[in-house]
Amino acid sequence: MTIKEVPYDMYLKEVNQKLTSRGIFLTTKENKLNTMIIGWGGITYFWGKPIFLVAVRKSRFTYNQIEKSGEFTVSIPLNEDLNKAIAFCGTKSGRDFDKFKECNLTPIPAQKIETPIIGECSLHYECKVVYKQDMIKENLDAGIDKRWYPDYHTFYFGEIVASYIKE
Ligand SMILES: Cc1cc2nc3c(=O)[nH]c(=O)nc-3n(C[C@H](O)[C@H](O)[C@H](O)COP(=O)(O)O)c2cc1C
Repeated sequence: MTIKEVPYDMYLKEVNQKLTSRGIFLTTKENKLNTMIIGWGGITYFWGKPIFLVAVRKSRFTYNQIEKSGEFTVSIPLNEDLNKAIAFCGTKSGRDFDKFKECNLTPIPAQKIETPIIGECSLHYECKVVYKQDMIKENLDAGIDKRWYPDYHTFYFGEIVASYIKE
């Protein structure tokens, strides 16, 4: 296994495409290791830092995890077919399942943070939360509120401290 570091913005198009088509893995580790699927978010730039922005509803097990750990990894299959794992991890909760075990996913230690990456994926981002923001109903477009809520997201701005391809 070799790790090839890549600039944080080298795969913007691919990340966006995977996010909006199938979803990508957001992994957290507190007492338990867990991963879920996200379809919204993306790579951006704030405060002179590369940022991975993710949106997690308060009902997710992941919400409790990330609140405590303050970090996460994002793993993206580029050519690998992980559709089955995506379907499972995007519908079942870490409260009820060990998703790594159920989906035969391999946790691999990250380079700079405590949260592992998913060995079956090729593209990875390690992130430390530098800002978070709960959604505020009064600030939200009424049409979006009606269509998508009441289970509001919390937005986590994760500074990308490492980005690489695992070969
Ligand atoms: C394609 C897809 C995209 C998703 N995007 C998000 C998202 O951006 N934010 C979110 O909170 N949940 C999202 N979900 C739902 C979570 O992945 C799902 O509720 C998961 O079971 C939560 O796991 P957890 O309870 O272990 O955290 C998405 C699910 C799918 C299938």
